[in-house]
Amino acid sequence: MLVWRTLLLLWAMAEATKDCPALCTCQALETMGLWVDCRGRGLLALPTLPAYTRHLLLANNSLHTVPPGAFDHLLQLQTLDVAQNPWHCDCSLTYLRLWLEDHAPESLRHVRCASPGLAAHRPLGQLTGYELGSCGWQLQESWAYLSVWWDMVLVAVALLGLALLAGLLCTTTQPLD
Ligand SMILES: *[C@@H]1O[C@H](CO)[C@@H](O)[C@H](O)[C@H]1NC(C)=O
Repeated sequence: MLVWRTLLLLWAMAEATKDCPALCTCQALETMGLWVDCRGRGLLALPTLPAYTRHLLLANNSLHTVPPGAFDHLLQLQTLDVAQNPWHCDCSLTYLRLWLEDHAPESLRHVRCASPGLAAHRPLGQLTGYELGSCGWQLQESWAYLSVWWDMVLVAVALLGLALLAGLLCTTTQPLD
């Protein structure tokens, strides 16, 4: 039992130092997770985070945006503090907002936007989909194109089918004449 605990502790310490972002401090939790503290380090972009990150503190930095999907590989992530950053609240920040809504809705109140003009000084959680921007519309537009092509394919197949049917009718009715 003691051996197991010691091994676990050694593993956790190794893990905490190995993948810790250069500007952050990492601390191993007792239950195989990491406390990653990057507060007030002047970060301009999200650092590469260790896979076992459980509590991530990013407050008081210069972060503008979070790439969509940035936390998807952090399966243990539970808390995320992103307050006091100059967030640029356009449609690409929808990912961060949805992540916080799903995992830590209370912390969403402390996330304020710095830009663009329409969103400045407002909490990210209060912006409507319209105010966050038109990512969704672009997506719908490309899907609309796809469905126009699909319709054309269907029409072509139907015409081909009719032509074949007509041909078939001609060849079967001719001997009767
Ligand atoms: C924010 O971080 C800066 C360093 O980047 C530090 O000097 C300042 O005290 C911090 N402010 C707060 C409120 O933590």
